[in-house]
Amino acid sequence: MGDIKTSIEKVHAAAVDEFAAAGDESSLESVRVRYLGRKGRVRDLMGTLGTLSPEERPEAGRLINDLKSRIARLHDEKSAALGASAGGEKPSPETLDVTLPGTPVRLGRIHPIARAAREIVRIFAGMGFSAVYGPEVETVHNNFECLNMPLDHPSRDAFETFFVRDRSDVVLRSHTSPVQIRAMLASKPPLRIVVPGRTYRPDTVDATHSFMFDQIEGLAVGTDVTMADLKFCLNEFGKAYFGPEVTTRFRPHFFPFTEPSAEMDVSCIFCGGKGCRVCGNGWIEVLGCGMVHPNVLRAVNYDPEEYTGFAFGMGIERLSMIKHQINDLRLFFENDIRFLSQF
Ligand code: PHE
Repeated sequence: MGDIKTSIEKVHAAAVDEFAAAGDESSLESVRVRYLGRKGRVRDLMGTLGTLSPEERPEAGRLINDLKSRIARLHDEKSAALGASAGGEKPSPETLDVTLPGTPVRLGRIHPIARAAREIVRIFAGMGFSAVYGPEVETVHNNFECLNMPLDHPSRDAFETFFVRDRSDVVLRSHTSPVQIRAMLASKPPLRIVVPGRTYRPDTVDATHSFMFDQIEGLAVGTDVTMADLKFCLNEFGKAYFGPEVTTRFRPHFFPFTEPSAEMDVSCIFCGGKGCRVCGNGWIEVLGCGMVHPNVLRAVNYDPEEYTGFAFGMGIERLSMIKHQINDLRLFFENDIRFLSQF
């Protein structure tokens, strides 16, 4: 009886080692057959029962059955462990083609308008301007009144916008110019700021119009700011954004919040100013600008006898369309990644 107990424990110890060593399903199966199979070691032990006395046999049989279930448990545990580390069912070698390309991960990117806004802000940052922001829902006071457009002013038509239901005092801003007012109220001169942001006008959508678009405003105020400063800064901007060969010209214009006012053109970046299909006469209009109107300075309690300033405003979509030869504004808003991924 002592002999058979020793044999049982030897077989168990060997099984523990062999099941632990089995590294895959097929070696596990051969270990199982070696111990639990019809000619396995557990069966061999059963065969030795006949050599025992009738009194010893039941106890020995019970021990061997017990061994059998202990080994079965070793097998099941190992089988589960192998299955888990393989992630369940293993594909057979024939169905796993390691040469197939992987699933591509698409990376997002910055929208071309946001990218252009950053580029323009960076150009002016190099000339000492800092970026500030204002709300898209603006007071009528800031969008019109403080900018020298009283209620009966004909210029209000050009800056018509969306009102908010049941409120006559707030609008969606129709330009970024009201942020001039906010910035001047928030600090004392001197001041140099640029303001990127969304603006709204009740325009019907077509290739060059939209009810929503983006502008960048600029404002510089100090004791000795002149139109020469305006021309220098905007000329530098034209070269930095469109290329060093670009020249600029200023045409007289009218804005209620600047006096004098001008529109700036850049020499055509496609024909060099000779005249072509894109520009017509060699010039492309890019922005509006002028010297800050004394009434605007008065509206923010800056003394117009002491301070002067210049201001400008440009449409980001328009600038980007010129630079990249994009012929339809709607492309920026349609979210077609075939278009957007080119930037
Ligand atoms: N706010 C004007 C527009 O939207 C642009 C502008 C800004 C003109 C500042 C002059 C000075 O058309």
